[in-house]
Amino acid sequence: MTADVTEAAEAAVTDYILAQETKDQLRFLTCGSVDDGKSTLIGRLLYDTKLIFEDQLAALERDSKKHGTVGEDIDLALLVDGLEAEREQGITIDVAYRFFATDKRKFIVADTPGHEQYTRNMATGASTADLAVLLVDARNGLLVQTRRHAFIASLLGIRHVVLAVNKIDLVEYSQTRFDEIRKEFEVFANGFDFETLEAIPMSARFGDNITAKGEHMDWYTGPTLLEHLESVEVGEHALEAPFRFPVQWVNRPNLDFRGYTGTIASGRVSVGDELVVAGPAKTSKVQNIIGAGGEVAEASAGEAVTLTLEDEIDISRGDLLSSAAHRPDVADQFAAHVIWMSDEPLLPGRPYLLKIGTRTVTATVSEIKHKINVNTFEHVAGKTLELNEIAFCNFALSSAVPFDPYEANRSTGSFILIDRMSNATVGAGMVWFALRRASNIHWQALDVDKTARSEKLGQKPAVLWFTGLSGSGKSTIASIVEKKLHIDGKHTYTLDGDNVRHGLNKDLGFTDADRVENIRRVGEVAKLFADAGLITLVSFISPFISERRMARDLLGEGEFVEVFVDTPIEVCRQRDPKGLYEKADRGEIKNFTGIDSPYEAPENPEIRIRNVDRDPEDVAEEIIGYLRKNGFLGT
Ligand code: ADX
Repeated sequence: MTADVTEAAEAAVTDYILAQETKDQLRFLTCGSVDDGKSTLIGRLLYDTKLIFEDQLAALERDSKKHGTVGEDIDLALLVDGLEAEREQGITIDVAYRFFATDKRKFIVADTPGHEQYTRNMATGASTADLAVLLVDARNGLLVQTRRHAFIASLLGIRHVVLAVNKIDLVEYSQTRFDEIRKEFEVFANGFDFETLEAIPMSARFGDNITAKGEHMDWYTGPTLLEHLESVEVGEHALEAPFRFPVQWVNRPNLDFRGYTGTIASGRVSVGDELVVAGPAKTSKVQNIIGAGGEVAEASAGEAVTLTLEDEIDISRGDLLSSAAHRPDVADQFAAHVIWMSDEPLLPGRPYLLKIGTRTVTATVSEIKHKINVNTFEHVAGKTLELNEIAFCNFALSSAVPFDPYEANRSTGSFILIDRMSNATVGAGMVWFALRRASNIHWQALDVDKTARSEKLGQKPAVLWFTGLSGSGKSTIASIVEKKLHIDGKHTYTLDGDNVRHGLNKDLGFTDADRVENIRRVGEVAKLFADAGLITLVSFISPFISERRMARDLLGEGEFVEVFVDTPIEVCRQRDPKGLYEKADRGEIKNFTGIDSPYEAPENPEIRIRNVDRDPEDVAEEIIGYLRKNGFLGT
């Protein structure tokens, strides 16, 4: 082969690689019921297009092996990044991502399992997809799952849908049957805001209308699946949205350089653009943009870059740099849709970690507005949220965060919820709007404060938090402690479970959800009493670690003193001061702690009382000794 030919071939390969890299890309997911033929369909697409891919390559390949990495490395990275947040959290996702390309487009397919309980997998696959291929079996038509998946796709912001009417060979390639299914779906999907909806009759098994027309359906004049996937205009929402850049880390190798590194979530940025750090709302201009290959003048969504700014402003990991002209919302309460992904139900009032962009805060669901029946789309009332359920909820966050409504920006409008104990991802959310009620209430600074009050009282406020089973002796001990403190001239108050449940908490029962709310409220009350300067004794079973920790977090350093009244259940049962164990054993009381409702013992309480054969007076002295030693009782 002459040098010229080799050169020409090399140039062709280079062109080809460039074409691959700049080629437009479509992310889609396939969903449907178990037997609708998804695997066959994907297999068919991969097989058929791979042939095209390799044919074309063969012509260019002769003298060069350079094509080995054709665009693929880049795309594999893209594949992975959508999952990064989940990976970090150790969630197991049953979504397979596959990659293929034709000469018109590159494709990333998320293949999600069809089984009912896999809503969460579908949600994971759908969150980055532009289009959904909904498979139905022509014999069965629309099933509950088809509707469910269409609904979730719409909820997750997918605006393009293909209704793949598969196994058409099994209904004799019937146009009537196809039209029936298509019309039924069109009526059903009317409210879903899909921009394109293409129904295609096909047989994945025989290859009709997948990548080629086939011979059996002369009556069908529309595109094949591949033609449609290659040509459908999905718009580049992430590029068109305003500039958003969640700061992953602050790069400060020496005093002369301060750069902010992360992946551009949406929009574009150029040197000289004015940016704002949402929250404190400080602005500055972009000085430099450093990409993978060095300095660039501009960059856009999906690229990982380091930005430097003209002014020194305080920016840290978790902050969101945004276009100053199009600022995000900032709020500490918002309304959002949540898809729950954990076997343990979501309990309103329980603190979870909420990760939005690169920022993580503590958050609780303050109210489940309604759950959504994904089969009928009816709104239903609910106190908790179970695995795979979807609800519209109000959230309260420990601090204000910047975000966009999910509708406007799928990246800055979505979040995940993480369990604080197991660190597992338990939910995915899409923000709808900020709750303005929060922004019109300001903390009122009062002249007489906690310090002033407690100085006057001659004591340091504390919350003695007694936790333990019913009948463990909490209230008995708390009562003696209070009496002794009182005699000693200290200022105290006791919040006792049975008593508070007569008034403030009389609307609450003993489900997990009600107990969480019970402890949330008494935690808030204890906080106010501590602010009043009092030594407060709280005597509640408070069976969950999570809410005891929430109460601890509400108070100042050292103020929360956890007293674990550790009495074995056999002993409590023997004592049975209120005859409740006997009733529970007879099945007359449901959800009784230690019997059919859990008790999570504290791991590191400040004080642990092994309360078998102990004189309550001694125990009380031990607790008072702790208070004295730690300076709560003054001089
Ligand atoms: S907590 O679990 O929500 O913290 P709390 O301390 O307020 O419970 O109330 C517990 C008291 O309610 C017990 O001392 C007992 O007298 C009474 N009680 C009634 N039903 C139950 C139940 N199912 N489980 C535990 N306590 C119950």
